[in-house]
Amino acid sequence: MLMAALALSATPTVAFAQQQPVVDLRGEKAPPAPGRPYAARNLPDRIILSPAADPTTGMAVSWRTDMATEGTVAELALLLPTPAFGQNAQQVLGQSVPTLSENGGALYHKVRFTGLQPDTAYAYRVKGSGGFSEWHQFRTAAANTDPFRFIYFGDTQNGILEIGSLAWRRALLMAGDPRLVLHAGDLVASRDNMVHDDEWGEWAASGGWAMAAIPQAPATGNHEYVDIPGPEGQENRQLGPHFPLMFALPENGAPGVEKTSYSFDYQGARIIVMDGTSALDLGTLPAQTAWLQAQLADAGSRWKIVLFHQPLFTCARPRDTKVLKDAWKQIFETNGVDLVLQGHDHCYARLTAEEGREAGNAARANGATQGPVYLVSVAGSKMYGLNDRALTQPDRVAEDSSMFQIVDVAPGKLSLRTYLNTGVLYDGFDLDKGADGRNHLTNVAAELPEVRHCSGPVQQVDGPMPAGRLGPDGLPCTADIKD
Ligand SMILES: [Fe+2]
Repeated sequence: MLMAALALSATPTVAFAQQQPVVDLRGEKAPPAPGRPYAARNLPDRIILSPAADPTTGMAVSWRTDMATEGTVAELALLLPTPAFGQNAQQVLGQSVPTLSENGGALYHKVRFTGLQPDTAYAYRVKGSGGFSEWHQFRTAAANTDPFRFIYFGDTQNGILEIGSLAWRRALLMAGDPRLVLHAGDLVASRDNMVHDDEWGEWAASGGWAMAAIPQAPATGNHEYVDIPGPEGQENRQLGPHFPLMFALPENGAPGVEKTSYSFDYQGARIIVMDGTSALDLGTLPAQTAWLQAQLADAGSRWKIVLFHQPLFTCARPRDTKVLKDAWKQIFETNGVDLVLQGHDHCYARLTAEEGREAGNAARANGATQGPVYLVSVAGSKMYGLNDRALTQPDRVAEDSSMFQIVDVAPGKLSLRTYLNTGVLYDGFDLDKGADGRNHLTNVAAELPEVRHCSGPVQQVDGPMPAGRLGPDGLPCTADIKD
């Protein structure tokens, strides 16, 4: 019965890759990848699970193979303990796109699984020219408000595999059974002196098989955009070609930004993903703002979590992101947004009161309810120094620190914990939602480490790092003061 539903609801489309134009993934000035370390093979790689718009009944998967692979074929079955579960598998077909990068030719494939049962374990595998991948398992969301957990990563961008994977893997080991992974954007750097395809290879390798088992929900950062000179040399910012190939996202976002804005509900939470770069640079702010309002208006009593890259309140830059702040801050406040997840600043800040830490603490002591909590984090190796405001405005900050978050969502309670990539708890709070829908914030009761600051000679904005400036671990500070 279930499998019949599956077969009927999937929309098979056989791909004829050779008839499609080849998407050029090569950077403008990037050197050739020595030895093609991330060349596509005859077995699938970069297998990434994405949430469907309704993850109680759908999931989607993208993967990559060599050019010899014919068609886009996945197999899907209910996961059963018997090794014979695959005998019930249904074939689900999708579409592929041929590409050319410094690592050679590759096909990117995408399949959408529809008609699934809520709160049910499935197994799937995907095909290359040499055969199928191993089976990967996922669980659909429950059609209720059962508690669940997700992981959050700020920018992974630099040192993606070398350093960022430390946060990824510690998070996986500590989170138990995370049901989603959210990303702030700037997954990669996409700059001309790097092979973009290597960076995406590193990104996929840092999470490995877990990316095929846990739906990934990324925002785009400014680094997912590339500047392609126009015919007269004018600057022309465009979404880089990898992002829409690497993910099979719901594409249900704001008009004109469907590839990079989307939303979905997961067991009592509405996750709304916005594209800050497009809003700031490509004229989609009005469309995204209207879409945001509509998403919040019919979110009901769900937790409202908004994810985008450029933070309203920055911890590293001289000025806040005024355009987004002017457009969205009041909407967040008046529509009961609980948590705003951001990146871009390569430092850590948890901000609960624009007026500052002391004012926020005093208001809480008087029983004040909590508006949106603004969080900025970073997972990769690039670090920025804290700005002046960061010393008094956010509740808790850090510089020179690779981190991740584990967030527990339950009816009436949302708990966020920030960990250093060593697994040490660095910050945390609980939001308790009252019957009136308003939150009360309680800081985590555990003893936390000292605030992580660089110290010693002061660095000037954009100046060289002064000799003797020390990071929080006694090694030279790496957090550059940002202009
Ligand atoms: Fe970044």
